[in-house]
Amino acid sequence: MMPPHMRFRRRSFLGLLFLFSLSTSALYFIYSAPGIVNEYLFMVQARGMRIRENMRNIGAQVLEQVVRSAYSINGTDYPYDFNLSETAAPPTPYLPEGFTYLPSDFCPEKLPGMKGRLQVNMSEIALEEVERDLRQADASLRLGGHWKPQDCIPRWKVAILVPFRNRHEHLPILFRHLIPVLQRQRLQFGFYVVEQAGDEPFNRAMLFNVGFKEAMKDLHWDCVIFHDVDHILENDRNYYGCSDMPRHFAVKLNKYSYMLPYDEFFGGVSGLTAEQFQKINGFPNAFWGWGGEDDDLWNRVQYAGYTVSRPSGDIGRYMSIPHHHRGEVQFLGRYTLLRHSKERQRLDGLNNLHYSPQVARRNLYTNISVALSRDMAPVVDY
Ligand SMILES: *[C@@H]1O[C@H](CO)[C@@H](O)[C@H](O)[C@H]1NC(C)=O
Ligand SMILES: *[C@@H]1O[C@H](CO)[C@@H](O)[C@H](O)[C@H]1NC(C)=O
Ligand SMILES: *[C@@H]1O[C@H](CO)[C@@H](O)[C@H](O)[C@H]1NC(C)=O
Ligand SMILES: *[C@@H]1O[C@H](CO)[C@@H](O)[C@H](O)[C@H]1NC(C)=O
Repeated sequence: MMPPHMRFRRRSFLGLLFLFSLSTSALYFIYSAPGIVNEYLFMVQARGMRIRENMRNIGAQVLEQVVRSAYSINGTDYPYDFNLSETAAPPTPYLPEGFTYLPSDFCPEKLPGMKGRLQVNMSEIALEEVERDLRQADASLRLGGHWKPQDCIPRWKVAILVPFRNRHEHLPILFRHLIPVLQRQRLQFGFYVVEQAGDEPFNRAMLFNVGFKEAMKDLHWDCVIFHDVDHILENDRNYYGCSDMPRHFAVKLNKYSYMLPYDEFFGGVSGLTAEQFQKINGFPNAFWGWGGEDDDLWNRVQYAGYTVSRPSGDIGRYMSIPHHHRGEVQFLGRYTLLRHSKERQRLDGLNNLHYSPQVARRNLYTNISVALSRDMAPVVDY
């Protein structure tokens, strides 16, 4: 048995983590030991130095992220990769007001109607009211929240998948903000709310796999967005199309003080082409409870040879709808599974999943309700 201070030193070097905030030139050094109790945070600013003794204002969730980051795939820490040039990137040119295009053209990606920052309204509102307002604004909105532009050819057919349980008041808030933005972005889209029935812990990843398979039966979507119900985008230039690389959209969250919690963070809102998603065998099915499945997706994407792209500057800002974790449990086995991301990738995902959903078409979304259990995604020994 080592003396306590030695133990601390040995364990804590693993958790040394650097975060770079893109919006300010501040460097945040987070020094942490595995285990929520023994966390120390040092936030050091590049100009001058400011140390905060606690991070209560950022919240327990960042602590959680820090602990996650302290975890390493291989016994060594993740490499630290700061790309300082992103702040210096030139502003993206948007098309001028009055720009015209033909119905036979592909829709431009940077339309003048995309103005930037949005006014976010977190007030609760009835779903029927949002449906009525959206229909009034654009009568071509169809059942299932399907829409496509009439004045040009959409660049992407986007399925928005929303994993769901017990958050009925969040859905209308999401729709009222996101649907008008997607219309301004001239994307073809449809919404799939994938609701977990039954008593098992929430399995966000498995819900996404189910949603993907069901959505693809509907239409040949070429881009899929994996979207938490409580994430509201703050900028309509955050383009929800896909690209040749998987994309992480929710870069800066208010609940993390608009910082990327760690370099490999892939949570909240992400998007892959249907082809990319199939190539990585989807999400893992084995993450029961809160946490880790997005890190596994990150690993899968890396192993497939992709690099994740992100919107720059303030474009990737999101607000999260405040709520309490209603009895959602953390998934404590995630670190063990993450250590085997690579071996598990071909065994667990889209290819070993069997389920029977109830599907109902609603005005603004397709409701895919599914009771999940562990035997739906058996994994052979590896
Ligand atoms: C694991 O470590 C080995 C050797 O230290 C290295 O070659 C390999 O790239 C590492 N794998 C990952 C996923 O970091
Ligand atoms: C850093 O970001 C810039 C602008 O986004 C990009 O052009 C460049 O390739 C990136 N460099 C690395 C090493 O990722
Ligand atoms: C926010 O939404 C609520 C409910 O629809 C509405 O009553 C209120 O006026 C809105 N607030 C702002 C600032 O738009
Ligand atoms: C989806 O359908 C299930 C089963 O019919 C129902 O219990 C649930 O309330 C629906 N959820 C949503 C978000 O519409």
